[in-house]
Amino acid sequence: MSTATNVTQESDVAGDLIRAFRSKTATIAVIGMGYVGLPMALEFVRAGLMTIGIDIDDRRCKALNDGQSYIADVTDLQLSEMLDSGKFIVTSEMSQLSGADAILICVPTPLSKSKDPDLSAVIGAGEAVSAYLSSGQLIVLESTTYPGTTEEVLLPMLEATGLQQGVDFFLAFSPERVDPGNASYGVANITKLVGGCNAEGTEVAATLYEQICNKVVRVSSPSVAEAAKLLENTFRSINIGLANEMAIMCRHLGIDVWEVIAAASTKPFGFMPHYPGPGIGGHCIPLDPHYLAWKVRLRGYEPRLIGVASQINADMPRHVIDLVTEALNDVGKSVRNSRIVVLGVAYKPNVGDIRESPALDILDLLERRGAVISYCDPFVPEVTAGNTQYRAEPLSAALISSSDCVLVITHHADFDYELVVNKAALIIDTRNATRRFSGSRNIKYL
Ligand SMILES: NC(=O)c1ccc[n+]([C@@H]2O[C@H](COP(=O)([O-])OP(=O)(O)OC[C@H]3O[C@@H](n4cnc5c(N)ncnc54)[C@H](O)[C@@H]3O)[C@@H](O)[C@H]2O)c1
Repeated sequence: MSTATNVTQESDVAGDLIRAFRSKTATIAVIGMGYVGLPMALEFVRAGLMTIGIDIDDRRCKALNDGQSYIADVTDLQLSEMLDSGKFIVTSEMSQLSGADAILICVPTPLSKSKDPDLSAVIGAGEAVSAYLSSGQLIVLESTTYPGTTEEVLLPMLEATGLQQGVDFFLAFSPERVDPGNASYGVANITKLVGGCNAEGTEVAATLYEQICNKVVRVSSPSVAEAAKLLENTFRSINIGLANEMAIMCRHLGIDVWEVIAAASTKPFGFMPHYPGPGIGGHCIPLDPHYLAWKVRLRGYEPRLIGVASQINADMPRHVIDLVTEALNDVGKSVRNSRIVVLGVAYKPNVGDIRESPALDILDLLERRGAVISYCDPFVPEVTAGNTQYRAEPLSAALISSSDCVLVITHHADFDYELVVNKAALIIDTRNATRRFSGSRNIKYL
């Protein structure tokens, strides 16, 4: 095939895709109907594009087809509207990929037990895409991953079909930055980064996202886009690590860390407040820095800040247990046989996600020390920590007043903190949630 022919074919493929995206005649397939994929599919349906949601989990597909959303950011009503529009189908049938103009991969990227990247879902999705890849398609990886995944892992799989990137199909990386439960920022108003394997692919992918995002920024390669996402989350992990260590240092110094952070935050430039807590959770902040560290280690560099911050953050549950032990000791009690009510087990407020939640470690550590544990969390009806299963109890005056200690782990907005402060004998508040009652003698802060 001559170069001149290539250029012509390339332009045709790109031009056809761009026109199909702009005229909303394209079909979009989203692989992975989770926290990321389902809200993304919603935006494409709203923009008027035919959208196919694909997931290997048949139960998830059935739930969605029955109009039952398991993702808080997409309500049942919104899901019904998607289905009723005739623009949304959900299936576990990978062959549906053959009819898509663009395929977005939004599958999990966890860590293995040894904290190495586990790309099995990305590879599984890549195999499915390869099996149905045809000329004229755009493939975008959205899963958070180490720099090089798109070009070193996905690209060879796709080109093994005989089709060529930049000629027959386009491949790009575009990191997903959604923040589940965030009422202010969603798919539409979070700037979308796009890095294609070649300039034309970047343009094609950027045009797709311009149909649903207010602002799209093009970067020079998939690796830049992959690294940018990891920088964002590594920045958070390290700064939260600093805030956590500051909390420990302030405790040694007898100073209130929350007041210190509020005071430092009065500086109008050069300081961005981060807050301590019982540890970090979720599918992103505790995991993503390890993707970066793993990749860079392969190139012979041992990153330092990532490991230190991760360790500080991972040690916070034990620090919380120390606080509980000390506070109970001060009133002549031991953790053993004390009735401890844990408020919140989700990893962050106002969501029901318990993945990597520090509450799981804290429940387990309390259980091992013989505490009698109850928990309240309107978003998490039941939870397993260690070998023990717990069921949520409603937050009531009776529950709080019968406890020896209330431990605030997740600062859900709906908790009645006034009731807690009025009825609890002792409160350990790891989130500064009860600050407006800070005069109360029964509250100890992280
Ligand atoms: N959750 C977040 O807040 C968030 C934010 C930004 C980025 N991310 C990143 O987005 C990616 C997806 O995360 P998530 O939170 O949506 O995960 P999730 O677990 O909520 O959803 C992933 C879905 O993919 C499906 N799946 C797994 N393997 C599959 C395969 N081979 N084919 C088809 N479907 C498959 C699963 O059944 C599941 O429904 C991850 O890389 C994550 O790091 C997540």
